[in-house]
Amino acid sequence: MRFTALPSLLHLLPALSIFLDLQGVWGKPISHLSKCKLAQYPGPSNPSFETGDLTGWHVLSGTAFGNGSVTAQTSYWGGSFNQKGKYFVDSFVASGDPAIGQLRSDSFLASSYLSFLIGGGYDPVNLYVGLVRDSDGTLLKSQTGMNDEALVRVIWDTSAWAGQDVHLLVYDNNSGSSWAHINIDDVRTGCKALQDDNGLTFTVFGEANQPAAGSSSSCTLYAADPVRPQYHYSPYQGWINDPAGLIQWNGQHHLFSQFYPDAPLWGPMHWAHATSSDAVHWAERPVALYPPYPDNPQDTSGRWTGSAVKDAQNQLHILFTDFTDLALHPGSTEQVVSAATSSDGTSFLLYSQNPVIGTVPAGSSNGFRDPKVFQDPTDNSWKMVVGSGEGSQGKVHLYRSTDLVSWTYVGVLFEGDGSTGSMFECPNFFPLGDKWVLFYGGRSLGWFEVGSYNGTSFISETSGLLDAGPDSYAMQWYKDASGRNLAITWLGNWPTSKWPSRLNGWAGQQSITRELFIRPDGGLGSRPIPELVSLEQPASAKVWTQKKIGNTAVVLGQTTTARLRLTIDTASSTATSFSIHLFASSAESVLVSYNFAARLLTLDTSNAGYGQTGQWQPIVAPGSDGKLSLDIFLDHSTLEIFSSDGVVTSMRVYPRYQESQDIKIEASGQVVFDSISLTPLESSWC
Ligand code: FRU
Repeated sequence: MRFTALPSLLHLLPALSIFLDLQGVWGKPISHLSKCKLAQYPGPSNPSFETGDLTGWHVLSGTAFGNGSVTAQTSYWGGSFNQKGKYFVDSFVASGDPAIGQLRSDSFLASSYLSFLIGGGYDPVNLYVGLVRDSDGTLLKSQTGMNDEALVRVIWDTSAWAGQDVHLLVYDNNSGSSWAHINIDDVRTGCKALQDDNGLTFTVFGEANQPAAGSSSSCTLYAADPVRPQYHYSPYQGWINDPAGLIQWNGQHHLFSQFYPDAPLWGPMHWAHATSSDAVHWAERPVALYPPYPDNPQDTSGRWTGSAVKDAQNQLHILFTDFTDLALHPGSTEQVVSAATSSDGTSFLLYSQNPVIGTVPAGSSNGFRDPKVFQDPTDNSWKMVVGSGEGSQGKVHLYRSTDLVSWTYVGVLFEGDGSTGSMFECPNFFPLGDKWVLFYGGRSLGWFEVGSYNGTSFISETSGLLDAGPDSYAMQWYKDASGRNLAITWLGNWPTSKWPSRLNGWAGQQSITRELFIRPDGGLGSRPIPELVSLEQPASAKVWTQKKIGNTAVVLGQTTTARLRLTIDTASSTATSFSIHLFASSAESVLVSYNFAARLLTLDTSNAGYGQTGQWQPIVAPGSDGKLSLDIFLDHSTLEIFSSDGVVTSMRVYPRYQESQDIKIEASGQVVFDSISLTPLESSWC
């Protein structure tokens, strides 16, 4: 399918100005409710389909819509539909995905704002809810779905057409067999478009406020997007997944990402490129690698994940997976290892003799990809690990080279037992202290193995999860100039269908830079790098020492871009547990609780907005002095919780309401906090 260009910047600016400056450093959102009163007219009839049929709506064509497409179903394979009231419209229900059709509302006068709930397939050309002007049939606004069934609220500034006769068009011209339908519910206008019946103000989705490629305005536009992280790397538009090619070279940290710029969905892979002098403030650079057939969007061939090293001449070498779409190129090898070099760190030249590994080793029927090159001190050669698997077991292959171009197969470095997946993606292998660390992705999770290595074979001694949360995958390691072992992981929503940021034109982000270490229990630990302090606004920080908190909840502040640090004296605390509410309002919150006896940290998103719901429960241990510290990073839709024992728990969250900014703590019994600090973090893009 072909995707249209995302809306131009100029087109968006008037709408954006209304949504800028919605919140101060600490305060509640500054309401734009005064503007909504300027033009308030009733919206379409039967706005939430609560008649149970299409009263007030009109089928213009096709079979996708009819009274049978009004449904009261409440859940699907991915969770709850989240409709308002009992009924909503789903163009799948009556006649399945292939059916097409058009549905329009009665005409109504455009108000200052219009909002509605949308779900369904992503196809901006063929699947959308549109606002049409009656007088000339102009499509004034349109919004496609997110490839999820669950409904998310889109809010449009319609003040430019206030008082004009308009109608909504629900358009399904996608006859495909998957994600070829659109869902709509609860159309609201004027001030009601902005506020729920409980008085809370909706999070604004759907103004597609991403900057154009190469634009320098990302600071302001990123700030205007309520779910856009302010100090994490995310794509200016489109999709990213795995971090790749991490290296510090000539002082600069380089971060590449699997990237598809034309839609917030995975597609023919490019390598996006960003650089930073401190591994905190990233600046977008030109795309480093393009897919081989960019003129044919049907061709999924692309440059997949890989790694970067510098040679003795200080030239950058990238070794990556060259993926070929076999449907369009039969007879090719699907996954091979190719190389590119750069002497300026900006333009990358593909090696003329590619691929450098064109033959897949035996026992790799599940895949052969994601080369990660490292210098091996056991024999002073270059080594490369490549992910693979066969049958139910993932494995990691090992290669050796002295010139980064000709590679000799050493053998299988590590084979799983099936419990961590049948295809190990994105393997990394490196010495840490007197141990060797292997980590890889499998079953949508990241896994580590810590053990010993003799130059050809690895024996695992301790294993576990790289991240206890659900949204971390494809972590990549690199050693910086000062010898630290650093890592960045992709924080997508990989195991779930929930990607609400697609409504704003982008999907996926990278974690903050983490430093890796061996934990006291022998596992692999992570902590945030100290350079992150440069984001802190200490003058606005709130600090408490020797704070005792009991059954009465203590509100620490209101913010969604902050660092919350707590040190708990577990020996002096008499409580059985305590809970921290984040992204909290009267209607929703992310709950982080700790049970002292079980040493169990629980991240609970059962009532946390539009994102994935569930509970994740790592064991988190206090130190031998009885102290436990939590270092929590909040960034609009991102949560990373670092515990002092090295466990990290990350998750993407998408609050429904702008008021969901409270940070509060309560306990069952008394908890003694040696210290608590809540420090706003500023944007790394400004
Ligand atoms: C992991 C992965 C890699 C592959 C890349 C493609 O997320 O599947 O194995 O190289 O993504 O984008």
